[in-house]
Amino acid sequence: MAFPSQLSKPPAGSTATRDCSHIYGSRFASEHMPWELPEDEMPKEVAYRMIKDDLALDGTPMLNLASFVTTYMEDEAEKLIVESMNKNIIDHEEYPKSVEIEQRCVRILADLFNSPKENEKPTAIGTACIGSSEAIMLAVLAMKRRWKNQRQAQGKDTSQPNIIMSTGVQVCWEKAARYFEIDEQLVPCTDTRYVIDPAQAVDLVDENTIGICAIFGTTYTGQYEDVKGINDMLVERRLDTPIHVDAASGGFVAPFVIPELEWDFRLSNVVSINASGHKYGLVYPGIGWALWRSAEYLPEELIFKIDYLGADQVNFTLNFSKPASNIVAQYYQMIRLGKRGYQSIMTTLTRTADYLADQLKSMGFIIMSDGCGTGLPVVAFRLGPDQSVFFDEFELAHKIRERGWIVPAYTMAADCKMSMCRVVVREDFTQSRADSLLHDIKHALVTLVQRETINIQRYQLLLSSSQIKSSQKLCVETSCVELIDPEPEKNIF
Ligand SMILES: Cc1ncc(COP(=O)(O)O)c(C=O)c1O
Repeated sequence: MAFPSQLSKPPAGSTATRDCSHIYGSRFASEHMPWELPEDEMPKEVAYRMIKDDLALDGTPMLNLASFVTTYMEDEAEKLIVESMNKNIIDHEEYPKSVEIEQRCVRILADLFNSPKENEKPTAIGTACIGSSEAIMLAVLAMKRRWKNQRQAQGKDTSQPNIIMSTGVQVCWEKAARYFEIDEQLVPCTDTRYVIDPAQAVDLVDENTIGICAIFGTTYTGQYEDVKGINDMLVERRLDTPIHVDAASGGFVAPFVIPELEWDFRLSNVVSINASGHKYGLVYPGIGWALWRSAEYLPEELIFKIDYLGADQVNFTLNFSKPASNIVAQYYQMIRLGKRGYQSIMTTLTRTADYLADQLKSMGFIIMSDGCGTGLPVVAFRLGPDQSVFFDEFELAHKIRERGWIVPAYTMAADCKMSMCRVVVREDFTQSRADSLLHDIKHALVTLVQRETINIQRYQLLLSSSQIKSSQKLCVETSCVELIDPEPEKNIF
């Protein structure tokens, strides 16, 4: 529809030039959102509404099945978050209770990860971080510094540190290696094994190895790497190479679903563990945890003692200021849910993931993740040969996006190029939501197959036409008309 030209620029003195009290009648509604600091203020209701409207174009967090990060918390937790958002946790003197709450969380996690005990107290120490990435950076720094100190004490070269990990690591490991100048010794994944091979990992150990990373719940398929396998092999070969367990997701799942699985401080070479509170720890983004087996594994030089905020305090994080809110929220979840609460949630998620995997399998997909609680509640899948389709996982993901679902399609780790889709089953993904997703995946498959069939028929018609060159356009148009299905739902043109 064409707008009358006078509407594009309001005439001077017209009602549109004075500020209307209604947001959408005000001048702000006809201006671009600022990319520069405006000269004047804007009423708070208008600023709020304009930003809220802008954000409406984001995806819906609950339908974002790509992310491991928590998208639901109870109202009480949200209230605590808002109430503690203006507390900077670094101000130990001013906010001693928040600091104590952080230490209570560390203590709870030390028990959960089976820290050794001295005088009935866990020896593990730890800190809250902004996420697992920061926790991993700290753990890598600690391993590197310990290795360096040991080498220097022996008068040996310290210029070539290396770290062993699978090609299935999350990008933060590559970052850590690059930022801290450590060589990556990569154990390749294959077309049939998407996790580290313990023997290959241990074979790579040399005098310059600062540690081995074992991923407890890989980002790609949610599988648990065999931490015990690595540990036992190291012990067998009398190697004291440290293991860091990246339990970003598994740290809050396995202890409740499969407690007998040994992956944590029960294993002698595991020196540090990270876990994301904002993944299966069930807190909104902005919280991770780093734990060390005991103070011995966190070199003194990395701990800063600061006293200018009014009290002596120790600090071992990469950043300084951060709100107390996520730590408080983590503690809320811990005491609100207790072991039983976490167990109920994680078991439900595991069942939902198994159900989803079974249904997808029956539709012909190949399931790449492990079920029955032997991996994360994540379903990684790819199109199977029986489905006989030419489209790929990226097109499928794109199609279901039309229904609001964000299911990522991506390519497996560097050396294993297959494409796949992945659904992270989070707390707010119920069985009935799984049914809706399955319905939409089925519908997307049918639609894509129909489009493919129509296209094939169109090409066949084109190819068989003797007038292919002279009347190509006509031929395409004819085939469109002929192939349109009488049932409108099935027409894709
Ligand atoms: C295995 C693994 N490690 C580390 C990370 C980084 O975690 P964060 O987002 O908490 O920094 C992720 C994130 O998905 C992950 O899956």
